Amino acid sequence: MNFKVKESIKDRKSVRTFDGRRISDKDREALLKCMQTVRNPFDVPVEFKLLNVNEHGLTSPVVIGAEDYIAAKTARGKNFEMGYGYSFETVCLYAKSLGIGTVLLASSINRSTFEKVMDLKDNEVMPLATPVGYPAPKRSIREVLMRKGIKADSRIDFDKLFFDESFSKGLSAEKAGVFADALEMLRWAPSAVNKQPWRAVVCKDTVHFYEAKSLGDSPLGDLQKIDLGIGLSHFDLTLKEEGISGRFFEKDPGLAHEANVQYIISFEKESL
Ligand SMILES: Cc1cc2nc3c(=O)[nH]c(=O)nc-3n(C[C@H](O)[C@H](O)[C@H](O)COP(=O)(O)O)c2cc1C
Repeated sequence: MNFKVKESIKDRKSVRTFDGRRISDKDREALLKCMQTVRNPFDVPVEFKLLNVNEHGLTSPVVIGAEDYIAAKTARGKNFEMGYGYSFETVCLYAKSLGIGTVLLASSINRSTFEKVMDLKDNEVMPLATPVGYPAPKRSIREVLMRKGIKADSRIDFDKLFFDESFSKGLSAEKAGVFADALEMLRWAPSAVNKQPWRAVVCKDTVHFYEAKSLGDSPLGDLQKIDLGIGLSHFDLTLKEEGISGRFFEKDPGLAHEANVQYIISFEKESL
């Protein structure tokens, strides 16, 4: 699976209004291959399925004109939300590179039908599904209003999300150095209700990632940890595209932070 990561990220917007065509055989094959081979740095296995709307009775109150969905399940365990978010978003970015629109949906689906089709076992969850199809030339009025309501076209400023050595100093893109592009691509990631819970503190060659929790947990787990995984896929795939390697590790650096913020994981750039 090879695609232009930054291009996909920059051009991506959620799509809820489709033109009614089924995806072509060629695109379908490419998508299926991506779904089968996608991995995440947390080694969380994620099982994807491509499902036809009519065959399975799948519906969403916010989606128009989609004939197929991708849904994915995983088992609860260490870092499962992050691995799940990372893998699912990688599939969506790849779909974007094929001209296929997606929107990650947690609540706006007939969930019990989806879960039945996904054949969930005891310890398994299916937090998200997305329609897949070709975007309609114009969004539905409902989608336009919805995007306005959650300010889907805007993001929190760079220096309010990312920090320089400690949470007391906002980070400039210049100071972010080798991480500048990767953090900017993370900034544009999709998140539940566009809450953008990711925070990061850059300390030389290391970036410490945090979750600023603003939504309560659901029976599906902590949706905002899935957001973190989604954001980390933008960050990590951008670095990889730029030929910068490194590794994720978990070791809380003990920086002072606000009460709703929790340390999640760090990334260290490989020194040359
Ligand atoms: C974990 C997660 C859950 C989401 N759930 C829904 C949902 O139930 N219904 C919906 O219309 N959009 C949902 N979205 C889409 C977000 O609203 C959307 O990504 C955000 O507003 C930013 O817009 P953009 O993706 O166009 O940049 C979800 C996104 C994520 C990441």
